[in-house]
Amino acid sequence: MNNYLSLLLDPRVWPRNSSLFTINGQLIKGVVKLEIKGERVTIRDLKLEDVFEMRNWGYHDNPLLEDYNFPHMSDKEIKLWYKMKVNSFFNKYYSIRNERDELIGYMGIKGIKIFRRESTLGIVLDPNHINKGYGTEILDTFLRHYFIEMKMKKMILEVAEFNKRAYRVYEKIGFQPVGYYLDDFFNQGLDLKNPYYLAEKSSFVIDDEKIYNYIYKMALQKNRFFKLRKIRT
Ligand SMILES: CC(C)(COP(=O)(O)OP(=O)(O)OC[C@H]1O[C@@H](n2cnc3c(N)ncnc32)[C@H](O)[C@@H]1OP(=O)(O)O)[C@@H](O)C(=O)NCCC(=O)NCCS
Repeated sequence: MNNYLSLLLDPRVWPRNSSLFTINGQLIKGVVKLEIKGERVTIRDLKLEDVFEMRNWGYHDNPLLEDYNFPHMSDKEIKLWYKMKVNSFFNKYYSIRNERDELIGYMGIKGIKIFRRESTLGIVLDPNHINKGYGTEILDTFLRHYFIEMKMKKMILEVAEFNKRAYRVYEKIGFQPVGYYLDDFFNQGLDLKNPYYLAEKSSFVIDDEKIYNYIYKMALQKNRFFKLRKIRT
């Protein structure tokens, strides 16, 4: 078996809901838990209990970020939400806890392309914990694991132009824009007199009463990440 394929069967790198697995070609029985540690943050596989905790998260005042508020869901809907997220070999979801073991966010790598070794990033923090440097630390910590342990080569993402904070974090880590396009805005009922919208009006287009917003597609290659990391440290 080639090295990369045997790596895919290693639960320390690609955890699965199974207690039988192989490490270096040896069949092992037990449960292996993934834990990626940064200075303040710890990243682990997302568990159903984590999703229940997200009910206690805060809310964004900014209606442009409403899509990132954790939605009101019944217990049944939460279980379904969790199943949809984790039951795919091509998506991986992680919980993020801070130095006080509080659940401060979750992230995912989606559409994993095994042979091209790339995936698409998604990250959402509890609005109570944004702007404290966690997002930058999480990506810096996770990307090291992603490029070294998981042996991935490239990460891509999409970010709304109005989401200046997210864009800034991605730019700091080393992501570069590789595309720019208009997409339907998620809330066609947005109040166009809202100050948050007015401040970011140039990132929107209203055509025939339909609301569109500009999106950047960004990409980060392994070499660039480590080159910039060396300069930063
Ligand atoms: C995007 C997100 C993950 C970033 O994490 P974070 O912990 O808030 O970010 P950090 O504190 O590490 O860094 C924020 C940076 O943006 C800057 N920033 C904050 N608000 C800004 C604004 N309005 N315009 C420009 N820069 C801004 C900060 O100054 C900081 O940059 P600096 O270190 O150079 O000073 C987090 O804010 C989040 O979950 N937001 C809601 C969901 C979301 O937008 N997800 C991303 C979808 S693509």
